[in-house]
Amino acid sequence: MASAEPVVYLDGEYLLQSQAKVSVLDRGFLFGDGVYEVIPVFGGKPLRLNEHLDRLHRSMERVSMQGPLTRDQWHEIFQALLDSNPGADRSIYLQVTRGAAPLRDLSIDTAISPTVFVMVNDIKPVDYAQLQAGIEAITVEDFRWKACDIKSVSLIANVMIRLHANQSSVMDAIMVRDGLVTEGTASNIFVIHNGVISTPPKSDCLLPGITRDLVIELALANGFKVEERDIKESELETADEVWLTSSTREIAPVVKINNQAIGNGVAGECWKKIIRIYQAYKQGLRDG
Ligand code: PDD
Repeated sequence: MASAEPVVYLDGEYLLQSQAKVSVLDRGFLFGDGVYEVIPVFGGKPLRLNEHLDRLHRSMERVSMQGPLTRDQWHEIFQALLDSNPGADRSIYLQVTRGAAPLRDLSIDTAISPTVFVMVNDIKPVDYAQLQAGIEAITVEDFRWKACDIKSVSLIANVMIRLHANQSSVMDAIMVRDGLVTEGTASNIFVIHNGVISTPPKSDCLLPGITRDLVIELALANGFKVEERDIKESELETADEVWLTSSTREIAPVVKINNQAIGNGVAGECWKKIIRIYQAYKQGLRDG
């Protein structure tokens, strides 16, 4: 049976996805002038909702965009969409662009109002056997701008780097700027040496991931040593484990980088512990 068409939110209206249309003059479409969030939802409960909305507001502030909705209004939209699109685990995708002006002009017409779009997608249940098999990656020069802390819809650099990885027959790329590891194309990176978990510090060179913060918090609470510090590219070669984290990928072990095995070339012992802790956290959200 074909599944029902999703209901989405666009500028104050709840519409069938195929009915939702945006102007060709929208600055998001013309310039990538917009920001977004991806919020995972487990058992109907959004994970770290406040933190996601805090990051959204920081992104909007960084690009001098006015927040179009209050927190209560966001909550109301999310709940309405979760109710109209029933399912198991899902993710909320929201996007705010600066809006559509009468003319294509880089200068901002202050009379325009933001375009707000929200949709809900199913999260495929993570296949742990598959996750445990790990992923392969390559390292790539991080040629992006110095504003990677903004969750901008302008993702063309990430798309190019991901394409390069996929054309090199690997799943993802780990980006490196000035000899230091920054992040994956849509994830943050963790590197483990002798049981110590390290991740690059927050800066304008990477997105401050909500999963990153949660992994740090859970690791510390469970007795791991965690360091937020610069990580040299050469440290990838000596690492026992490397992980990529994101809302949708959770914590993915990287088992091969540039065709060279990481540790024993399989998901490591720290990952096995941390993924169990992360699953328990998710279950707590479902049960709570
Ligand atoms: N991306 N770094 C980049 C460049 C990202 O695009 C993402 C997430 C992350 C991890 O952030 P978080 O833990 O908050 O998901 C880091 C989302 C999932 C996406 O674009 O689909």
